[in-house]
Amino acid sequence: MASLARSASQSLRASARRAPRSLAKSAVRPTQAASYSLFARAAAAKVAQTSTAKGVRGVKTLDFAGTKEVVYERSDWPLAKLQDYFKNDTLALIGYGSQGHGQGLNARDNGLNVIVGVRKDGESWRQALEDGWESFSPVPGETLFPIEEAINKGTIIMNLLSDAAQSQTWPQLAPLITKGKTLYFSHGFSVVYKDDTHVIPPKDVDVILVAPKGSGRTVRTLFKEGRGINSSIAVWQDVTGKAKEKAIALGVGIGSGYMYETTFEKEVYSDLYGERGVLMGGIQGLFLAQYQVLRKNGHSPSEAFNETVEEATQSLYPLIGQKGMDYMYNACSTTARRGALDWAPIFEKANVPVFEALYESVRNGTETRKSLEFNGRATYREDLAKELAVIDNQEIWRAGKTVRSLRPDYKPESE
Ligand SMILES: NC(=O)c1ccc[n+]([C@@H]2O[C@H](COP(=O)([O-])OP(=O)(O)OC[C@H]3O[C@@H](n4cnc5c(N)ncnc54)[C@H](OP(=O)(O)O)[C@@H]3O)[C@@H](O)[C@H]2O)c1
Repeated sequence: MASLARSASQSLRASARRAPRSLAKSAVRPTQAASYSLFARAAAAKVAQTSTAKGVRGVKTLDFAGTKEVVYERSDWPLAKLQDYFKNDTLALIGYGSQGHGQGLNARDNGLNVIVGVRKDGESWRQALEDGWESFSPVPGETLFPIEEAINKGTIIMNLLSDAAQSQTWPQLAPLITKGKTLYFSHGFSVVYKDDTHVIPPKDVDVILVAPKGSGRTVRTLFKEGRGINSSIAVWQDVTGKAKEKAIALGVGIGSGYMYETTFEKEVYSDLYGERGVLMGGIQGLFLAQYQVLRKNGHSPSEAFNETVEEATQSLYPLIGQKGMDYMYNACSTTARRGALDWAPIFEKANVPVFEALYESVRNGTETRKSLEFNGRATYREDLAKELAVIDNQEIWRAGKTVRSLRPDYKPESE
């Protein structure tokens, strides 16, 4: 879900800023990379113990509710193998936003040779400097460059600019992506919707995708805990015959725990659909609809918020995450169960046509064109801020602030 973390990117950057510089620097060139996370030696030691006990497990086919799918796990790529695989490569990370930060620091901590390319003296340049990417020249270990220079130095070009920026900058960047390099994306957006983005990769390079299923912030925090995000991988163009293997290895390099295979089209369709649906847009709409009807019927804001959002996020949804929907049902009262079981098909029936319309809007490129138009505006940040301020100002979310403040573990600075 490509845009989930964008709202979180500022706090991510803030937390990156708080990271001690000495710590960041010490991770630039790990001399003895003993784990997937130099920051979490204890947790990683546990992981290492587990993988030693089980050995390298190898690629496996799993049964997902009756459909067999291949998954690729980090344990297939011990760190020494990973580092050896990329020993002649320079990963040029273009863009240092949410994903650039998470993927870049993880790959660096994994002992891979990573450089960063961003606009000189922009916000990302400043962030990258704070994270220990160095731009002093001439020094050995120089790792921060203007975009064009980084592409020239890199063998694997990881295009992690925002999707709108990928399209805007393509005419300048395309000629630099020469034969022998690999072009990497974390979203199928630019190449799949090429009629709108005009991003058409050169014919003589491998084009691959690793799409973490979470924000760049989560990519980083899970890695630091010795865990790993799940990602999808895909190949758009395989010139060397090694494209898929490279995608899997890069997936491990940037901090994935396991990967499943998809295509560029399926990745972008499911991603745009999911974030507009249940992950973000759908849930926002459903919360608001339920809250409004409660309020119209005389319920107080605290009651309406508790019965709509607080109980969902604090009590019930975590149960679904832990052990599934039936587990959540079993944890609830018999009264709740009966009613919910009766109403679920009614909501399903009402929503299927909405989801069908949404999928079609994704498939035919309408969503892409809207996104490119909005996110390509010079006033994009201000325009977004205005829309988010409207949400922030809705009664439901204002009431939510007060409700959250009543949590016993509430910390005022987290608002
Ligand atoms: N965020 C997620 O949750 C997520 C999850 C999975 C996949 N993805 C995918 O990962 C990729 C990167 O996404 P992101 O969320 O990390 O992006 P982002 O946070 O929006 O990062 C934007 C980056 O693009 C640069 N940029 C913006 N406009 C530019 C321009 N005109 N010229 C040069 N640089 C420009 C910014 O540099 P400045 O600071 O200089 O403006 C910044 O480094 C996208 O393909 C996205 O779909 C994202």
